[in-house]
Amino acid sequence: MKEELLAKIESLRQDATKALASFQNLKELQEFRVHLLGKKGQLTEVLKGLSGLTPEDRPLVGQAANQVKQDIEARLVVLQKTLEAKDKESLFSAQSIDITLPGLDTGRGFRHPLSLVNEEIETFFLNLGFSVYEGPDVESDYYNFEALNFPADHPAREMQDTFYIGGNAAPSPSPLLLRTHTSPVQIRTMKNQKPPIYMICPGAVYRHDDDVTHSPMFHQVEGLMVDTHIRFSHLKGILTLFCQTMFGKERKVRFRPSFFPFVEPGAEVDISCGLCNGKGCRICGGDGWLEILGAGMVHPHVLEEVKIDPKKYTGFAFGLGVERIAMLKYGIDDIRLFYQSDLRFLEQF
Ligand code: FA5
Repeated sequence: MKEELLAKIESLRQDATKALASFQNLKELQEFRVHLLGKKGQLTEVLKGLSGLTPEDRPLVGQAANQVKQDIEARLVVLQKTLEAKDKESLFSAQSIDITLPGLDTGRGFRHPLSLVNEEIETFFLNLGFSVYEGPDVESDYYNFEALNFPADHPAREMQDTFYIGGNAAPSPSPLLLRTHTSPVQIRTMKNQKPPIYMICPGAVYRHDDDVTHSPMFHQVEGLMVDTHIRFSHLKGILTLFCQTMFGKERKVRFRPSFFPFVEPGAEVDISCGLCNGKGCRICGGDGWLEILGAGMVHPHVLEEVKIDPKKYTGFAFGLGVERIAMLKYGIDDIRLFYQSDLRFLEQF
């Protein structure tokens, strides 16, 4: 039995040596590996036969079998590398592939103009030390209106008619709606955090609007700065610098008194129309100016609502329209172009 197995091991070694010299490709090598060393391979069968030997013979035959196994495995690894290199070489050889041909063009992606403008706005405020916050698109009446000093039947709600979606939310009962502005994030931030607060919040907002400069869904960036000694001059200085950074020093900026229930005093900021250079055109409605944002000093009622002492702290807030800024910056005359996914338009930025 012992001699028989040793003879078998020797003959397998000789067969393997011959076979290893003749392989032309990886497939042959793989088949041989399974044939000899696989679960039912010839050498594996020999190893299984060890159990029939006497305890004295077992180590001797086992050692011989393992020696041959290790030897063949090592040679298979070397041969496999050689054959793989050969395969690669033939794949790239001049006959099969011309590696100088241009590759398949998958097309390069690019950023949407609104993403570009959003990023530019964020960078400006991050450089001034503001942090970026987010809030939900589906908001409760409380955060969108009530806490911002819009009583239930106040006519100022009319300017921001929106989409009510049924249901109630915190603080219950408060109807759910698609937020009309990013200002509710002022309330959420001030309820969670005590001054000093320097934040901006970009996001989508929704209104019952639809024409060349008004969309039912558009984007705003809210800003809020609450600290001791914040004055209107801080608001004016920061927003003037912002407009000059976005549009260049040659564009004019105008602060116009306006009403928002959650600020006092309130203002709207206009920039001279870049399409007609202030002469008046279809886009600016003929008066040479385009409104880009609303702003003002945070109303004491709002500070009281979020438990911040208005005698100790003051603040300013603003909300700017991202589409409006992009239209003015790039001279775009129809807001709907942003949402039509027309590559001829989008590729230009
Ligand atoms: C507001 O939404 C206030 N929340 C802004 C604010 C924040 C005031 C903080 C005071 C303090 P207003 O409705 O004016 O304000 O909108 C702000 C900007 O959003 C506008 O100046 C305009 O640029 C843009 N905007 C308004 N409606 C639309 C619309 N339908 N489509 C595109 N842009 C719009």
